[in-house]
Amino acid sequence: MTGEANMTAELIDTTSVRWFHSFELPGSQRIDGIKSLNILRAEADLFFNEDVSGKSVLDIGAWDGYFSFEAERRGAARVLATDHFCWSGPGWGTKDGFDLIHRALESRVETLDVDVMGLSPASLGEFDIVLFLGVLYHVKDPYACLEAAARMCKNHLIIETVTALPLETIPAMRLYRPGELGDDPTNFWAPNISALEVMLDTFGFSKVEAIPSPVSQSHPLNKKSTPSFRRRVDNNGTYRTIIHAYR
Ligand SMILES: C[S@@+](CC[C@H](N)C(=O)[O-])C[C@H]1O[C@@H](n2cnc3c(N)ncnc32)[C@H](O)[C@@H]1O
Repeated sequence: MTGEANMTAELIDTTSVRWFHSFELPGSQRIDGIKSLNILRAEADLFFNEDVSGKSVLDIGAWDGYFSFEAERRGAARVLATDHFCWSGPGWGTKDGFDLIHRALESRVETLDVDVMGLSPASLGEFDIVLFLGVLYHVKDPYACLEAAARMCKNHLIIETVTALPLETIPAMRLYRPGELGDDPTNFWAPNISALEVMLDTFGFSKVEAIPSPVSQSHPLNKKSTPSFRRRVDNNGTYRTIIHAYR
């Protein structure tokens, strides 16, 4: 009886949140956020390409926490979810969705309201796996923020970001006018893959792999093997890319 009462209360709370992530909760209750469950599941399979069981995971910019809870579900020993912009900062999001899922899953994921530049390995320690997903293009200083994320990482840094300038061989970043990228004035910079490789090498990663995100079907990395590559790729296009960087 108590369980039924709780489930009813959870349903009411679910509709009161403006969701970014989608979820399927125990009991098959579904939450449909801006990012679909299909995309989230496809991304998770590409992010967690190695066994996370027993590992410590830091999720920077966790928002509703889909990937934090997914790391926990896949057996991570410790997960710390952090955010600021959409938890208590100027973003339109809140932490209500994260907290609701946390209760529904009886999760042990830890949280900290902190900006990426406020992360410190001296106070928080380093994590085996660091998730830096969908954050890089939102920050005004991507070099410093990527370095701050890298500092927290013992072994494997997973980045998901918008990338640009696929035909540019010089390491470069493209700056967007306010609102130009996705009609979102909080989008600033997109690096090309070469720039990501240079930064990650500088921050001490010995191996870097770039793969297309499942949301970018016509990603240049999918076209590279064709002889007409330069003709087929739009250098002004934007592409979502997943990077695995290893110490
Ligand atoms: C597009 S959402 C990505 C959410 C989630 N990581 C994902 O990939 O689905 C961008 C996230 O970055 C967070 N964010 C933006 N600027 C940040 C900053 N300076 N420090 C930490 N998080 C930030 C936002 O609050 C938001 O949660």
